[in-house]
Amino acid sequence: MMMMKVVICVVLLILVLLVPSSNGQYSQAVLLAQRTGFHFQPIKNWMNGPLYYKGYYHLFYQYNPYAAVWGNIVWGHAVSSDLIHWRYLEEALVGSEWYDIYGCWTGSATLLDDGTPAILYTGWSNASAVIQSQTQNLAFPANASDPLLLKWVKSAHNPIATAPPGYNSSYFRDPTTSWQGPDGEWRILVGANMGTGGNIGTALVYKSKDFQTWSFEHPLHEVPGTGMWECPDFYPVALSGSKLGLDTSVLGVSQKHVLKISSNNLRHDYYSVGTYYYNNQTYEPDIKQLDTAIGLRYDYGNYYASKSFFDQHKGRRILFGWVEESDTAQEDIAKGWSSIQAIPRQIWLDSVTPTALLQLPIEEVKNLRSTKYEQTNVTLSPGSVFPAQGVQGVQLDIELTFALPHVPQNSTTEEFLGEEGPLECSKIGAGTKGAKYGPFGILVLATEDLQEQTAFFFYFTYSQKSGWLTLLCNDRNKSSVASNLDKSSYGTYLRVYPNDKSLVLRILVDHSVVETFGQWGRMAITSRVYPQYAIGNSAKVFLFNNGTEDVKARSLKIWSMNTVKLTNF
Ligand SMILES: *[C@@H]1O[C@H](CO)[C@@H](O)[C@H](O)[C@H]1NC(C)=O
Ligand SMILES: *[C@@H]1O[C@H](CO)[C@@H](O)[C@H](O)[C@H]1NC(C)=O
Ligand SMILES: *[C@@H]1O[C@H](CO)[C@@H](O)[C@H](O)[C@H]1NC(C)=O
Ligand SMILES: *[C@@H]1O[C@H](CO)[C@@H](O)[C@H](O)[C@H]1NC(C)=O
Ligand SMILES: *[C@@H]1O[C@H](CO)[C@@H](O)[C@H](O)[C@H]1NC(C)=O
Ligand SMILES: *[C@@H]1O[C@H](CO)[C@@H](O)[C@H](O)[C@H]1NC(C)=O
Ligand SMILES: *[C@@H]1O[C@H](CO)[C@@H](O)[C@H](O)[C@H]1NC(C)=O
Ligand SMILES: *[C@@H]1O[C@H](CO)[C@@H](O)[C@H](O)[C@H]1NC(C)=O
Repeated sequence: MMMMKVVICVVLLILVLLVPSSNGQYSQAVLLAQRTGFHFQPIKNWMNGPLYYKGYYHLFYQYNPYAAVWGNIVWGHAVSSDLIHWRYLEEALVGSEWYDIYGCWTGSATLLDDGTPAILYTGWSNASAVIQSQTQNLAFPANASDPLLLKWVKSAHNPIATAPPGYNSSYFRDPTTSWQGPDGEWRILVGANMGTGGNIGTALVYKSKDFQTWSFEHPLHEVPGTGMWECPDFYPVALSGSKLGLDTSVLGVSQKHVLKISSNNLRHDYYSVGTYYYNNQTYEPDIKQLDTAIGLRYDYGNYYASKSFFDQHKGRRILFGWVEESDTAQEDIAKGWSSIQAIPRQIWLDSVTPTALLQLPIEEVKNLRSTKYEQTNVTLSPGSVFPAQGVQGVQLDIELTFALPHVPQNSTTEEFLGEEGPLECSKIGAGTKGAKYGPFGILVLATEDLQEQTAFFFYFTYSQKSGWLTLLCNDRNKSSVASNLDKSSYGTYLRVYPNDKSLVLRILVDHSVVETFGQWGRMAITSRVYPQYAIGNSAKVFLFNNGTEDVKARSLKIWSMNTVKLTNF
């Protein structure tokens, strides 16, 4: 069980090899049609620490070259100059020593004082024949003058950490990027759990003077009832409302800290915004009910094991996340690949709600835009559908703006506890007979006859306690005529304020993945969909309104997107 959860990328891979091939219900042409056109897609992967070095963005990812057995997880490596076009390099780290002989697992990169990078990673050691004994390890570039950072050398000090007394060494992994305190000492977090049944999720602080020898301090923070914390991430964000990112070591008064973890129990990435107390190396969220692992999510769809890094080249913080498949293992076999990397996002603090983040696709994505379609001032009467005439295809970048309907907006923070909300997206669909306002929104990857459609819609709801709230939902119920797929709904309450004046969606469509951002990045939903007929030029876009009042789309802009070639070294 444990093994299945820890190395999910390998789980997918093993299924590919061991489950007998069957005639899935898709034709090969349909399967090919679902391979993405502008997303980074190794054969199977999840995130390790990205970094920018000497003109290249480096992406490291988990990869099993031998496939049929457990325990050969290596660090795959790719470089890019724009975070969009990638070139695969040779593997960066391969298990070779007792402390990582069964695999080099997730970790992070840190730029040291002199500008050279270091990697911290988890090794699966052979210290125990019974349990997965995890260790933390260090590696440096063999040649720091090499901008490609092709070769890495493991430190003679490895392992730099084994599980401290009282912690289970099978739940001890994923070191963060290091930050340096005003005292000059380096610190990292390692994900762990403790307590009966390992039910208290936690991130442990380690400290080092020289980046070679490390000592355990104590937990930075813990939240009962949340299980193992994977892939912790801990970084400062500016309070100014500026989109500029802060380097991981920045510590000052006009900033907050974000503590993000990947919940091994719930398979979602959760974060909170709060204060890092340097004096005692602890963290407290600003809103206790929205603590890490129980409150806000980066993404309300299919998105896990993310990592951020400070891009010193452009002064921004960038988030990388991993998107699993959600169709069947048989289809994965037929396709021969599974999982992709979400489009990198820039993240910063929402100045309107400084207890939450904003996220939008990095600006470089816009360089892939080609043919543009534009329509303004479309009034959608109740029950109507509006076709984006002439728009077809499965690689699109969409910007949609509705006029904000005239309902009083007075959301509180409670609405962000999405899945616990009084009216969830799972209870309404695009075809639900409307409230006053909603469901209304957009259909992508839709056939002309709407037999297949992937809907994103707003739905206004009123509660005594919270007043008017706005849901942003993704209804995948009709996303494919195939019956054997996960078609559950995604979404939650979206922060909308009267001053917003508009309801805004940004949507990236790439064959079988749709990434949606509401209200300038206040909410994100990443969704896998596998249409059978809405493929190629049969895929259309429509606006729709199933509420009982008119709504007005002020502007709809749609660009078709160029394909990115991923090249080998
Ligand atoms: C662990 O791995 C190391 C390196 O391959 C090897 O030398 C050692 O014998 C192994 N120990 C056990 C207990 O398997
Ligand atoms: C280190 O990398 C630089 C830049 O690529 C190269 O010129 C140099 O030959 C390399 N040194 C060694 C020892 O490989
Ligand atoms: C540690 O976790 C492993 C894997 O779940 C389990 O088998 C083992 O009993 C745990 N050890 C302790 C001391 O709780
Ligand atoms: C850490 O220090 C802060 C600020 O002095 C304090 O509010 C907090 O309670 C301390 N936390 C712990 C666990 O001692
Ligand atoms: C759309 O409507 C707005 C407000 O009614 C108006 O100012 C604008 O000129 C219209 N745009 C077009 C292209 O008709
Ligand atoms: C999904 O579609 C099926 C078949 O069209 C329908 O019976 C069901 O009610 C729909 N579910 C939702 C939540 O819309
Ligand atoms: C709007 O609602 C009707 C009635 O439930 C339904 O037939 C139609 O498919 C809905 N529109 C969309 C876009 O789902
Ligand atoms: C929100 O607005 C409604 C209607 O104006 C009001 O009845 C309600 O008390 C307000 N709720 C909050 C939490 O302010």
